[in-house]
Amino acid sequence: MGVEAIARDKFEIFKNKTYINSCSQAALADEVRAAYDSYLDGLVEFGSPWETWVGVQENVRALLGELFNASSDEVAITTSASAAVNAIASCFDFDKGPSQILTTSLEFPTVGQIWHAQERRGATVVHLPEGPDHRVTAQQVADAITSDTAIVSVTHVCYRNGAMNDIKAIVDAAHSKGVPVLVDAYQSVGAVPLDFAELGADFVVGGLLKYMLSSPGVGFALVNAATTSEYIPTTTGWFAARDIFSMDINTFDPAKDARRFEAGTPNVPSMYAAQAGLGLLLDVGVSNAWEVSRQLHEELREGVQALGGTVVTPGGSGAHGPMIAIASTDEHALVDAMAADGVIVSSRDGNLRVSPHFYNNSTDVKVVLSSLEKNRHLLA
Ligand SMILES: Cc1ncc(COP(=O)(O)O)c(C=O)c1O
Repeated sequence: MGVEAIARDKFEIFKNKTYINSCSQAALADEVRAAYDSYLDGLVEFGSPWETWVGVQENVRALLGELFNASSDEVAITTSASAAVNAIASCFDFDKGPSQILTTSLEFPTVGQIWHAQERRGATVVHLPEGPDHRVTAQQVADAITSDTAIVSVTHVCYRNGAMNDIKAIVDAAHSKGVPVLVDAYQSVGAVPLDFAELGADFVVGGLLKYMLSSPGVGFALVNAATTSEYIPTTTGWFAARDIFSMDINTFDPAKDARRFEAGTPNVPSMYAAQAGLGLLLDVGVSNAWEVSRQLHEELREGVQALGGTVVTPGGSGAHGPMIAIASTDEHALVDAMAADGVIVSSRDGNLRVSPHFYNNSTDVKVVLSSLEKNRHLLA
């Protein structure tokens, strides 16, 4: 369908606000709101329509496969990105096998914390430092891998500063040394095209509430069928079983496909929202969305620099995702001041985060910039 055909007025928030904060949560589309309603309608009409719910979940799996060029068998649906990383971490026997986890200074806290939790299971964790452009390089990864490296765990786009790593080069560097790679793509999925088959990563994790237009409560792991058949999670549950309805308490018989990374009852209401959000995103096309947000990112960069502000996010093609991080002397005060102007943005780590998606436009950028001009004293 393309971006032009998606009416901005289907995102009600734009009636009252300049919403440019998709790195936290997508703007709510009419379809997604209606999808939550249809879950509730089903409860009233049918009570417990489990077959319909399973159908929605399987449709979400297929839509995720379509979006990322993965087979449905390679898609595990979880309740958060953290649940996906935990299930992946549980596959490793750090006491007996390689014990080093090679990660970066750019990770979202949940990823760092989950890896450090593995220290109790014999792991050691090494954080590669980001360079001056807030990225890590494939060369750094290659140089740091040892015969004891169990996994490389790297973020695609950093949640703090918007820098984007060259994950294809990192995956290739790790694979050339026989080490599997987990990519946390939460800050890029839905905004930056990601082709799982072409990337060749062993695991990619993310979730649906940000640029994927949906809801909290749905995460996923893409699990490379060609490279991961020996990884069997011990973080598990009945929805990960080969036969969910075997009701057998005497065995552990996990699914052969990516479903083995799942656990308990899915978040069904959020699954309805996910189905609607993914349908909309596929209609728009992630590469079309990326064209729009890249353009707006550049307009923001030029505007902030003209105001004398400091853009923390590296410039240049391939070096950043949709979000732009702007240094502030008091980022919380700046977020509040902009909210008073009707501009919704967020902050992390000393930076204001402005994160356009396909439903934003140059008028939004102008409104952001005029609010920043008014609050110039809070720019660093
Ligand atoms: C890059 C990144 N990874 C992981 C997470 C955590 O996701 P979840 O809360 O679904 O575990 C977030 C959440 O904001 C994130 O931005």
